Amino acid sequence: MRVYDIILKKRNGERLSKEEINFMIEGYCKEEIPDYQMAAFLMAVYFQGMSPEEATDLTMAMVNSGDRVDLKAIAGFKVDKHSTGGVGDTTTLVLGPIVAAAGGKVAKMTGRGLGHTGGTIDKLESIPGFRTSLTMEEFTENVNRIGLALMGQTKELAPADKRIYALRDVTATVDSTPLIAGSILSKKLAAGSDGIVLDVKTGSGAFMVKYEDALALAEAMVAIGEGAGKRMVALITSMEEPLGQAIGNAIEVKEAIDTLKGEGPKDLEELCIELGANMLLISEVVRNLKEARERLREVIENRKGLEKLKEMVKTQGGDPKAIDDPSLLPQCKERIEVESLGEGYVQKIDAFSVGVSSQVLGAGRQKKEDVIDSSVGVLLKKKIGDKVKAGEPLAIFHTDGDRKKIENAKEKFLASYSIGKEKVKKPKFFYARVTKKGVEEL
Ligand code: URA
Ligand code: CA
Repeated sequence: MRVYDIILKKRNGERLSKEEINFMIEGYCKEEIPDYQMAAFLMAVYFQGMSPEEATDLTMAMVNSGDRVDLKAIAGFKVDKHSTGGVGDTTTLVLGPIVAAAGGKVAKMTGRGLGHTGGTIDKLESIPGFRTSLTMEEFTENVNRIGLALMGQTKELAPADKRIYALRDVTATVDSTPLIAGSILSKKLAAGSDGIVLDVKTGSGAFMVKYEDALALAEAMVAIGEGAGKRMVALITSMEEPLGQAIGNAIEVKEAIDTLKGEGPKDLEELCIELGANMLLISEVVRNLKEARERLREVIENRKGLEKLKEMVKTQGGDPKAIDDPSLLPQCKERIEVESLGEGYVQKIDAFSVGVSSQVLGAGRQKKEDVIDSSVGVLLKKKIGDKVKAGEPLAIFHTDGDRKKIENAKEKFLASYSIGKEKVKKPKFFYARVTKKGVEEL
């Protein structure tokens, strides 16, 4: 096989065999194929696309470039969830506990945040004593015992993706559906679960702004995952504004606790119920989505989900009292009301900029080495469609008292809100559900 011939074949729109795709990925990882040839190959894929079989082969080649998490020691069906990323996305902290409380098995490896999106690991580490690094034995034992464990990624999952992503980033080949789908799923498939529910975001704050692009990505990921022998569902949901009210770390843990009591923001609760219902369905612990939703509402009502969070916190070395009494979570130095300059209705919120303002307050990292402040963040008081008077708070900033950071964050935050005279409806939240059977518009 010659690299040149494979590039030419793809450039001309022909289909590649599994052997040819493996040859490219393995050769690149071994540094036998130079960057310029891989770059040309990626550009050919960008223009010619890939069939579902090719995309599955590409994804599996990237999975095989590194470690695979072995979850065989966990009895039953292991179910995972992945979100394509958003602002203030507190779902995992709610979803893990309710799904486990309802009979699912959640063994989830999760990441730290970089830039304007927070990572679940960072949020969990705001719970005093909580350990996010577990041995594989602890991880599997905990899931067997309580149905739930969340840990930081220790193994090297899909290293080929890391190198290829870096190359895509500088060769204008990031926004190719099969390449994005393969990149995301290689890491998820290597993480070892039997089924994955995907939350593909669309809207101004999402990676895929346009619905059609989000749908194409969802369909590609479902096809790849099913092709790799996993049960897959993707929901396409809105990221026109941040999810819930809290964007930060300790304040998102508090928001998760409220939601587990049925006292949290409704958008977050509904999203967790829908994602969770699909997780229970593919795990076959329920017969249908209706039954799954009822079970999840029940574990919120009877606080079994909250108990499950406490159990996980205790099992991973954290202080369960902080779940009963969130004032034991890191508290900020100073709270500051951010007042609206205009009057009317909130028309639009630029979720990305709200994320950046929370990052500026210290809740997120600019560089990998940065240390985050668990106690700071943004608590939204107004969302799209809400009426607001001049001088009324749009948000409460949780801050460390640093004036420069506060002023900087305030400027970014205020610019992210559009306030106008016309009444506006709340944005549509659920768009579609994608399975191997097809697309169901919601
Ligand atoms: N996220 C990923 O992990 N990979 C992509 O290619 C795009 C977004
Ligand atoms: Ca939130």
